[in-house]
Amino acid sequence: MTSADQHPKPNTRGPQDNIASAVALRASAPYIRAHRGRTAVVHLPGEAAYEPGFSTLIEDLALLTSLGMRLVVVLGARPQINVALNNAGVETRLVDGIRVTSSHALAEVKKAVGAHIIDIEAIISTSLAQRTLGGAAAATASGNFTVAKPLGVVDGVDFEHTGEVRRVDTASIHAALDRGQILLMSAIGYSPSGEIFNIFTEDLATFAAIELQADKLILLHGGLGLATRVPAVGRQLAEPQAQRYASGVNALPESSDRSLLGHAARACRGGVTRTHVVSFAEPDAVLREIYSRDGAGTMVSAGGYDTLRKATADDLTGILALIEPLAEAGVLVERSRETIELDIDYYRVMVRDGLIIACAALVPYPDAGAAELACVAVHPDYRGQSRAAELLDGAEREAAAAGLTRLFALTTRTPHWFIEHGFAKATRKDLPVRRQSLYNEQRNSTVLIKSISTIPN
Ligand SMILES: CC(C)(COP(=O)(O)OP(=O)(O)OC[C@H]1O[C@@H](n2cnc3c(N)ncnc32)[C@H](O)[C@@H]1OP(=O)(O)O)[C@@H](O)C(=O)NCCC(=O)NCCS
Repeated sequence: MTSADQHPKPNTRGPQDNIASAVALRASAPYIRAHRGRTAVVHLPGEAAYEPGFSTLIEDLALLTSLGMRLVVVLGARPQINVALNNAGVETRLVDGIRVTSSHALAEVKKAVGAHIIDIEAIISTSLAQRTLGGAAAATASGNFTVAKPLGVVDGVDFEHTGEVRRVDTASIHAALDRGQILLMSAIGYSPSGEIFNIFTEDLATFAAIELQADKLILLHGGLGLATRVPAVGRQLAEPQAQRYASGVNALPESSDRSLLGHAARACRGGVTRTHVVSFAEPDAVLREIYSRDGAGTMVSAGGYDTLRKATADDLTGILALIEPLAEAGVLVERSRETIELDIDYYRVMVRDGLIIACAALVPYPDAGAAELACVAVHPDYRGQSRAAELLDGAEREAAAAGLTRLFALTTRTPHWFIEHGFAKATRKDLPVRRQSLYNEQRNSTVLIKSISTIPN
């Protein structure tokens, strides 16, 4: 037994807990693998520090790095700055919600931001964090990575030391991330002439995510999750939908939510694949958002031009155009127009500018608690951008919502793609009985099965 095998405390958990942990680990494994080596920028507002679960949240962020994610954490400190200004008796002016940072105010901003970073570094260094990480030290890096410029004089108001981001030092940030460090950024930016500016950390996080071409931007916020407060927003938004909420075309009562979705949409337009809007007040929300299929927040995705929807009879020609060349090459089973028309309710299509660029069929076998994922095809021009993975994800969600627990696929040429996406090789006998009788001996396809049980909360 290695030291990692030993429990830090006497194990009071029962066998049921251990089974639940094993199920959860199995369900998370594909996500852990998918996110390893990926870069995420997290915006952590200062308000989070007043939550009872703050230390756990910081430890969870440290855990992301230990699971292989490259993490930049941008620390907001608005309430901490307010407290420091109040304590010092320094009054500041707010113009359209933007603070004018005088020299006196800047001195307090520096103290508050510095203290906040130190507090967070302390939590990351605690023995508790190290226990969560199995003793692995989580190192942080912080410094003069943000180049800022003054906001200047706007409508006659001189904003003095309030600034905006000009650029971030991506080379130094990547070097720190390469070393496995958690990169901490703050509301302080520096000008090449040595001036110091107080900047908006939401803007900095979005800017940094774009400059770093991060895979993810995670925008944390207080209170209940956005989709809980405003159900119409939902769990997934394409970038144009997020932009419609941000610009008020679609109603969203809270200006802070409009701002969050505005930043999310901007990041997606700038090349960040996904932005997650997640509550820091909900327990384990960050881990659930990243490592579970159901997530915990609202995800805004850059693939916003593509719509994934159920197929209708009008899609027949488009589906045939996509799959016929693959059937001719023997990659997919031959399907006649009539067969597809009869089964059209099973088909899902991904559409871009009116063109069907991907499809899949989800055929349920409710008696066996399973569904077949068949006819997965992505147009050659659009491959390698996770579209098939997105189809699979959608199919899993649908199947899980219908109470099914297994997804299976039959393929001659693509077993590895399925295995890399959590399927395991199985035999004909593992198929639903009704599907066994339809098995085509000549094709001799490989049977693959994936369990889609959800992670217990
Ligand atoms: C397999 C297919 C659906 C993947 O679509 P996609 O949108 O490109 O898939 P993703 O972007 O989610 O994944 C791409 C990855 O899968 C890999 N991949 C593609 N075809 C593969 C295959 N036959 N075996 C193993 N891996 C494969 C790619 O190399 C790429 O890997 P990388 O990210 O390491 O470069 C697409 O290549 C296709 O339409 N193929 C023909 C039809 C087919 O085989 N369907 C499956 C049988 S039902």
